[in-house]
Amino acid sequence: MEPPNHPIDRSRGRARGLAAVLATVLATATAVSAGLAMPAQAASTLKASAEAKGRYFGTALTRGDLGISAEVNLAAAQFDMVTPGNEMKWDATEPSRGSFNFGSGDQIVSFAQSHGMRVRGHNLVWHAQLPSWVSSLPLNQVQGVMENHITTEATHYKGKVYAWDVINEPYNEDGTLRQDVFYKAMGADYIANALRAAHAADPDAKLYINDYNIEGTNAKSNALYSLAQSLLSRGVPLHGIGFESHFIVGQIPSSLQANMQRFANLGLDVAITELDDRIPMPADSSELQQQGTDYGKVVNACLAVARCVGVSQWGVDDGHSWIPGTFPGYGAPMMWDSGYQPKPAYTAALNALNSVPDTSPSPTPPTSPSPTPPTSPSPSPTPPVTGACTATLTTVNSWPGGFQSEVTVRAGGSAVNGWTVKWTWPGGQTISSLWNGTQSVSGSSVTVRNAAYNGSVAAGASTTFGFTANGAAATPALTCTSP
Ligand code: XIL
Repeated sequence: MEPPNHPIDRSRGRARGLAAVLATVLATATAVSAGLAMPAQAASTLKASAEAKGRYFGTALTRGDLGISAEVNLAAAQFDMVTPGNEMKWDATEPSRGSFNFGSGDQIVSFAQSHGMRVRGHNLVWHAQLPSWVSSLPLNQVQGVMENHITTEATHYKGKVYAWDVINEPYNEDGTLRQDVFYKAMGADYIANALRAAHAADPDAKLYINDYNIEGTNAKSNALYSLAQSLLSRGVPLHGIGFESHFIVGQIPSSLQANMQRFANLGLDVAITELDDRIPMPADSSELQQQGTDYGKVVNACLAVARCVGVSQWGVDDGHSWIPGTFPGYGAPMMWDSGYQPKPAYTAALNALNSVPDTSPSPTPPTSPSPTPPTSPSPSPTPPVTGACTATLTTVNSWPGGFQSEVTVRAGGSAVNGWTVKWTWPGGQTISSLWNGTQSVSGSSVTVRNAAYNGSVAAGASTTFGFTANGAAATPALTCTSP
């Protein structure tokens, strides 16, 4: 399944009114409250439920999608992460040499920011949607051009993206690297060169290699696993692996969870980055049920791997998916139908999220070092939303001598523009690494302020930051203020 070399505008479709979205939300709430046994405080949107598990739930949006109010309203209600469908790819951002255009990508970023959503940058180096001026360069110019492209784009979006798919789809199915212009010019080193350039431009972004048909254990994922080991052993800044997950109904690899876990065990984040589950058309009700089973399996696999940071669906509704245009005869791959009604897949995904206790996103203990389950109950009690913002800490992982926590910052009745979270450690804990915020420490007092890209939080919406720390897992009382 080779993605096409040129963009298809998948943004066509009927704009529906707000009424359709409200109907969806109501139908969703009804479906959730009617048939499903769920914990007392089950969240009613994908993002709220994912956040309670220290994860995000994302979607891809194109600039065309932004003009379809029913679609974007649904996206804003359900998702807290956005991947631009096409707008940050090379053909969009540097259509001719040295001439950069970030207008469309910027529109996606500002949509995300104004709805309290984060952004996965997608992508910097890919053999497809690559302008012909790049693929026909003299080989001795390719490295310079590639590094200039990465530096310019990653600098433009510095502080605005949570992660970058630095390298997209580098592998053939047999586990050899594609012989694209980057490989021809630099050999396999193009990957390390690209990661280093991206890290220099935006040291805070998580840097990913992203590919498809690597979800299960196979020749392609084995090759990527060896490459990841090699890059990490050489100190190359690789932080995560993206599993695209363009599935066919009924064909979720049984090794999905174990395969993600082995990458996580290398010390990498893992993410489901482009989930869809296509059905031979017309889809019948048993296929739609099977699709629900599939979505549940994928969400459960992510929840079972402590370093799985989130799941992103590649689009919102069946009416605007790339699938029918790329895989003729297939369709209906999304969690909502073309009338924006939730399908069994939506209920299954939400149910999977809600069936895991908030206190521990991972039913399996962490694998290293010397695993023990979290030692104290978390999160700390959810505070009432009365002031400008509240902050809730969840321990997502712990091990002897250390732990990992996620803090959800939620705006009260009005939007906040900038937030500050403070706490005091009870027992000498120290933060070893913190993301999605900036910290200052004085003795046992910690102050975390928003990062450049997550300070604006809409009324009632939330954002998160996280950290790893040394010491015994603790759930101190947090205060949140907004200037
Ligand atoms: C797809 C887009 O959704 C389409 O609009 C475009 O025509 C082709 O690319 N793998 C990826 C994504 O990494 O960038 C692709 O997106 C889907 C496959």
